Amino acid sequence: MIAASKPDQIRVRILRQDGPGRPGYWEVHAVKYEPEMNVISVLQRIAAQATTVEGQRVAPVAWDCGCLEEVCGSCTMVINGRVRQSCSALVDRLLAEKPDEIELRPMTKFPVLRDLVVDRSRLFRALERVKAWVPADGYYDLGPGPRIGREDQEVNYPLSQCMSCGCCLEACPQYTKIELERRAGESDADLQARKQAAYDTSFIGPHAISQAMLFNNHPTGHTLADERLDALAGPGGISVCGNAQNCVAVCPKQIPLTTSIARAGRAVTLHTIKRWFDR
Ligand code: SF4
Ligand code: SF4
Ligand code: FES
Repeated sequence: MIAASKPDQIRVRILRQDGPGRPGYWEVHAVKYEPEMNVISVLQRIAAQATTVEGQRVAPVAWDCGCLEEVCGSCTMVINGRVRQSCSALVDRLLAEKPDEIELRPMTKFPVLRDLVVDRSRLFRALERVKAWVPADGYYDLGPGPRIGREDQEVNYPLSQCMSCGCCLEACPQYTKIELERRAGESDADLQARKQAAYDTSFIGPHAISQAMLFNNHPTGHTLADERLDALAGPGGISVCGNAQNCVAVCPKQIPLTTSIARAGRAVTLHTIKRWFDR
């Protein structure tokens, strides 16, 4: 739905944070309305003005973006209470949802680096835990890969569209925020190691479960299938999922996450029985 009457100005309420672990605070900006704006173009004008609606000069608001076409996932934030990409969030549609102002805040499940920029390392660490890749590295010509049948292509293609944006994790009630403060005298390396240990036992998330199913269904990726299923059967694995289905409802790529979760559940059960008989 598009807003019927266009305002002269757009009020934008932003939850800001000056750095990691610092308190958040709200700030209101106003930018001149132009047709066909998206949230990124609004943020560009706010950064150029660097002045609040009360006329106070402030540091430019920080945000992240890359592709500007809903492919990289880096511009994800909570817009008018719904997690989505700021490059594809169109102002006219947002004003139709909420005519008085647009509200922007960073995702809540990841540590805030500054303003609307969050650290999504944990999301990528989960992909490492399930070895979400085809093991085809080499220094010599490996020749053509195996052919993939049409049926498998149809199953795999939707899953391959995941852009690691984090929307599903933001919506998932089982995916809780992990915040680790630096201890007195702790080095960067020690803090990083503690973070990694915490990430490796926390819920892996629907995106990683779905990517494990994608690569287990690839003829070359399948060579790591047992290792992926070990990760899904382990701490923070598929048993943590409470099947609330919030993830599938917010995925901007309409990835069938709950279908992947159901497939993973069956595969992990069979794998666990097989491991038991292999002892
Ligand atoms: S179905 Fe599982 S992964 Fe998806 S939102 Fe619910 S608990 Fe999270
Ligand atoms: S599964 Fe969907 S919501 Fe989750 S990270 Fe991938 S694209 Fe984003
Ligand atoms: S900038 Fe890449 S998804 Fe928005």
